Amino acid sequence: MDNQNNNSQKKIFIANWKSNKTSQEVQNFIEELKNHKEEINFENKTIVIAPSFTLLPKTRQLVDEANLQVKLSGQNVSPFPEGAYTGDVNAKQVKEFAEYVIIGHSERKRYFHESENDVENKIKEAEDQGLIVVQCIQNENSQIHDKADVVAYEPPDAISTFGVGEAEDPEEIRKVFEKISEELKGRSLLYGGSVNKDNIESYLKIDICAGFLIGGASLDPQSFMSLINKW
Ligand code: PGA
Repeated sequence: MDNQNNNSQKKIFIANWKSNKTSQEVQNFIEELKNHKEEINFENKTIVIAPSFTLLPKTRQLVDEANLQVKLSGQNVSPFPEGAYTGDVNAKQVKEFAEYVIIGHSERKRYFHESENDVENKIKEAEDQGLIVVQCIQNENSQIHDKADVVAYEPPDAISTFGVGEAEDPEEIRKVFEKISEELKGRSLLYGGSVNKDNIESYLKIDICAGFLIGGASLDPQSFMSLINKW
């Protein structure tokens, strides 16, 4: 295990699978994690997997059967409670299978025209159901919602498309983190955007960085494990 840090801070690693994977692929992923369970230090980190809604029940079942200390997350949630909202998945339904939910991702805003008002309503719904809210912010001036539990700074240009992207310079991230730290009031701040095995160590040096939201590099189990095992 590449775990040379002597820092006892617990880091959060969230695998954001986006619109990827079938149930068979999830089965293969969890099987691989289970086979390498002994190599993972589960004590100094919180590992969270965010699959598509259709895969949440199956992932929950596989994770529980494998006895893995892995939490699950929704990638989105309805801004409405249960009721006549065709096609949406509400917070109560997400809570049945997951502990966390990602809200306000830039891809939701860009492709699905999600507004700040939607973000606010989603956070409220998630909070009411006891989900841990990971609010994504796109820049240092983004509004951080009072009810968000974890904040993920994800500059949109740094997010990979089809696995390729330009990660943000760690020094720039440190500056932004320091700027927004006052607003955090003790909440964890994560970085997301093209995190991979070659650059993660430079981000791990930023004390205030409590962890990562990882897209492309979380899809392959070996790749994901190579990231989490850096801590
Ligand atoms: P990426 O995605 O790691 O593929 O850049 C990060 C995210 O959007 O959560």
